[in-house]
Amino acid sequence: MTVTTTSPVFVTARYGGPEHQELAERPVPEPRPGEVLIEVRAAGVNPADVKRREGAFGNSAPMPMPMGLEASGVVVALGEGVTALAVGEEVLGAPARGQGAFASHTVLRAAEAVRKPQEISFVDAATLPVAGTTAYDLTHQVEIEAGQSLLVLGAGGGVGRMVLQIAAVHGFAAVGVASAAKRELIEETGAAFVAAGPGAAEAVRDLLPDGADLLVDLVGGEPLRALAPLVKDPAHLVSAADAATATELGGAGRERSEGVLEKIVGVVEAGLVDPHVLETYPLARAAEAIARVEQGHLGGKIVIVP
Ligand SMILES: NC(=O)c1ccc[n+]([C@@H]2O[C@H](COP(=O)([O-])OP(=O)(O)OC[C@H]3O[C@@H](n4cnc5c(N)ncnc54)[C@H](OP(=O)(O)O)[C@@H]3O)[C@@H](O)[C@H]2O)c1
Repeated sequence: MTVTTTSPVFVTARYGGPEHQELAERPVPEPRPGEVLIEVRAAGVNPADVKRREGAFGNSAPMPMPMGLEASGVVVALGEGVTALAVGEEVLGAPARGQGAFASHTVLRAAEAVRKPQEISFVDAATLPVAGTTAYDLTHQVEIEAGQSLLVLGAGGGVGRMVLQIAAVHGFAAVGVASAAKRELIEETGAAFVAAGPGAAEAVRDLLPDGADLLVDLVGGEPLRALAPLVKDPAHLVSAADAATATELGGAGRERSEGVLEKIVGVVEAGLVDPHVLETYPLARAAEAIARVEQGHLGGKIVIVP
């Protein structure tokens, strides 16, 4: 029998641009108490991977820094004290501190990992710990009711599409603002489409003359400032992209809620939300997968399959 002792892992050697990224080899990590080692089956790629590599979330991690913030896979070893999960179980979650999902193996905190239902593929499951949970929180952080209006800025991206699908489940009257190429993606979810850019605010006002009951932002900056006056109550503005501007405008950044990963897994298992994976890449082409996300203008998710 061959025992795997080293594991390929995609890292950045320092904070900055993609030129510091590389595929490295390291010993297979040992799960510490409360952790599980998984064989990674799929890992979602997010704009946050780029922001973290550039140092936007802090610049004091030990280097090289493993990349990748969400994974699905099979448990292959248990750390001390783990009783809730067993070897061989299929799970998904966010890698523990110091670990990365773009690897053949990674380590998850057992208490934060969730069992993967058979109905969800490893590839779809790998998009839920970051993008899926964000979409869930953004649609529940401020409560609105069926028939009330939801305006989504950046509606055609990985998170935005899931936001619109959740909106459809709740019966919100949704309006998605996105680039012209995303019209079909938006309308497929049952939402009304408004083209991004100059004139977007006027077009939204034509559709929602009394304003929006909730504004979900996935873009931030000036596009957010242009739409913010359209929300009836400034406290009903939540942003995953620009918490500082949202707070300045009277709203808030996304707050992670308790048990949110289980909740979005349940919604996807029920077939109510489809993460819409556009492309998968092998680990050897992780740099290309990250570049696809970094270029922007995506209408769904990119996933690495080691
Ligand atoms: N706080 C958290 O926990 C958390 C979690 C997940 C994501 N996020 C953040 O949320 C944002 C969205 O994430 P994502 O995964 O959905 O990214 P994504 O898949 O790259 O989608 C971003 C979308 O924004 C659109 N966009 C860019 N500029 C726009 C504008 N001016 N008007 C309308 N649409 C515009 C892009 O489409 P076009 O340019 O083609 O129109 C693209 O579809 C990112 O900033 C990400 O870092 C935060």
